[in-house]
Amino acid sequence: MVKQRVLSGVQPTGNLHLGNYLGAIRNWVEAQEQYDNYFCVVDLHAITVPHDPAVLADNSYAIAALYLACGIDLTHSTIFIQSHVRAHTELTWLLNCITPLNWLERMIQFKEKAVKQGENVSVGLLDYPVLMAADILLYDADLVPVGEDQKQHIELTRDLVIRVNDQFGTGENSVLKLPKPLIRKDGARVMSLSDGTKKMSKSDPSELSRISLLDPPEAIAKKIKRCKTDPIKGLEFDNPDRPECHNLLSLYQLLSGQSREAVAAECAEMGWGQFKPLLTETAIAALEPIQAKYGEIMGDRTALETILREGRQKAEASAEAVLARVKTALGFSTPL
Ligand code: TYM
Repeated sequence: MVKQRVLSGVQPTGNLHLGNYLGAIRNWVEAQEQYDNYFCVVDLHAITVPHDPAVLADNSYAIAALYLACGIDLTHSTIFIQSHVRAHTELTWLLNCITPLNWLERMIQFKEKAVKQGENVSVGLLDYPVLMAADILLYDADLVPVGEDQKQHIELTRDLVIRVNDQFGTGENSVLKLPKPLIRKDGARVMSLSDGTKKMSKSDPSELSRISLLDPPEAIAKKIKRCKTDPIKGLEFDNPDRPECHNLLSLYQLLSGQSREAVAAECAEMGWGQFKPLLTETAIAALEPIQAKYGEIMGDRTALETILREGRQKAEASAEAVLARVKTALGFSTPL
């Protein structure tokens, strides 16, 4: 039986945090044997906000190394850097000309990021979801595993597919494949350590708000020690008045690999003084093997380059075929 195709990606902006890991990468790793997977480092997305050219390339390599360190296995998955496959930008242009402007203006992430940037908002930031649609559609992806915050972007991708197929498909022949989001309930929305009502995010100015995958044990201990809690004794999931409590228990559950029921029972009588060292120890133990593997992979740049070259070649084969299909459907002449 042919496996379903999966595509997903992470931006090379700073260190990945527990939200990226638990909301996305860990789920990619756990399900990778079931699917034919493409995971890209979306460096073209990283320049939709002001960026530092001196670190962009290194950050992209670091994210690719983290994919491998988290357990992405090349027998099931292809990894590559988005900007190495030119079809992404070309399909974005074609889709741009078919996307109504107001579809983009109402994207929540655009509105949130635009507020932060004031007058410096780029056209690229507005266009971000179209580039993301191109990423997904170039691989005829069936499924897109992401965290909750990306759901709206995948809905836009689906709307675009319907529009393109309606306008340019002929009879049974659709031009683009309709993908579905794959959002797990657990870990889909990891919250900030400083405020349990805000998403854990790379762009939060406070380092104390997130645990990064490469944080050394002392940093993890410090962040958990300082994280926001409440004065109530006894820990519980799902109390809307205790968002920090729910978030920290969920982190403990996901990082320790236990069931929710087991964690609820274990922590029901605990105070923060007892729980925080337990969470610290669990987070350090969960990240230690990833950090060790990351060090090894980053120590052999040539091997990493080979992986990314081969990934690029494989990705390009799929992407070029889909791009050609779209260009034919839109009526372009064949290059001579
Ligand atoms: P990025 O780099 O912002 O996030 C990468 C992945 O991490 C998830 N995520 C979270 N999950 C749970 N809790 C959080 N606090 C949290 N923060 C981030 C995101 O949902 C995402 O899955 N636009 C994408 C990148 C992208 C992409 C694509 C994804 C570009 N092209 C094509 C899928 C398919 C993004 O948000 O990246």
